[in-house]
Parts: sequence; structure tokens; C-alpha cells
Amino acid sequence: MTAPRVTVAELAAAWGELPASLVDHMRAVSGLAGELAARYGADPHQAELAGFLHDVARAQPPQRLLDMARELSEPVGPVEADAPILLHGPVGSRQVLARHPWVTPEMALAIRWHSTGRWGMGLLEKVVFLADKLEPGKNGYYQGLEDLAAIARHDLNTAILRYLEWLTRHLLDRGQLVHTATLDARNWLLLEQRAHAPHPPDKR
Ligand SMILES: [Fe+2]
Ligand SMILES: [Fe+2]
Repeated sequence: MTAPRVTVAELAAAWGELPASLVDHMRAVSGLAGELAARYGADPHQAELAGFLHDVARAQPPQRLLDMARELSEPVGPVEADAPILLHGPVGSRQVLARHPWVTPEMALAIRWHSTGRWGMGLLEKVVFLADKLEPGKNGYYQGLEDLAAIARHDLNTAILRYLEWLTRHLLDRGQLVHTATLDARNWLLLEQRAHAPHPPDKR
């Protein structure tokens, strides 16, 4: 499925109600997602559009996200109830589909899962996920992850794995809940890596 030739500028106009600083981040993620898509064989146009749209619900306050998720019959588990910010991807994907019915299923998934990742992430999901974490506006935000951009230049899966493991440790160190989708994404990528690694040398 392909997306129509809508431009990021047109999308920015369609979401003119969003805060300017958020739109700056969405534009930057859009650009990075396009670059990663070109590097790793995803559709750069869809990556740019999904990269822009990934955070349309990011500015909503926690209670509003909970209310919107319930109105949309999106699942709200105890982890989301504890950290409603986790709902901005799922809620955002529904808002985007309502406003832009041409959005492809792959784009909607990339928006939906950009915070936690998930088991079996598709290529477009990976590209948007990583572009969001690499956005220069977030520099210094992810202390201890300074090597992420360098890894992202040559290995998409290893970069995502690196981030997911950093995130899990970061949450554990602070006594915070870890979303099961994040652990699923990490376990899945690890198994994928092992499956594609050369066989270990025979120890006998
Ligand atoms: Fe986000
Ligand atoms: Fe973001």
C-alpha cells in the first residue's frame, strides 16, 4: 500500500493546533526517518509522513490521554494507567487515521508502537522508532546512549536493541514499571540476532 503525495508541510498545516516545539520535533523525526528509510530499504515517503505524525497526541495531558483511550476503546492496562504517556502512540494513531484516512496500515503501526516497540516490529516501525530516539533535540536526554547514532548508521536492529536495553535499565534503576511490549521487542530482536548470527565455534 502506498501513501498519496502529501507533503510534510501540508501535514504541518493540518496539525496547526499543536505546540511549535512539538512540531519542530516531529519535523526533525520526519527528516531522520526518511534518511533511515533510504538507508535500510523502507519507503522514504511513508517514513517521512509517519515520522512527522508519530507525536500528534504527545501534548495531551495524562488524564486526557486516559479519557481518549477509553473513548476509542483502546486497551488501558495497569501499566498505561500508571504512565498514561504510554497511550500517546495508540491514541495518536487513531487520531491520525481519523484525520487522514489514506494513512497505510504500516504507518499507523509505526505511530502506534513508537514508544514501547513490540514483538515483530516491521521495517517502517523500526525506522520511525529509531528516528524518534535519534532526534537531535533530545541530545543529552538519553545519557549513556551517546553511541546510538553511530550504531544506527550500520545496524538498525542493534541500535534498537541498544536503546531498548538502555530504556529497560533506566526504568529498573528508577523503580518504574517496564511495559511488556518493550520486553517483547527486546527479546524478539535478540532472538532475531541469534538466528542470523554465524554458528558459534564447536567447543569440543
Ligand atoms: Fe512520542
Ligand atoms: Fe517523539
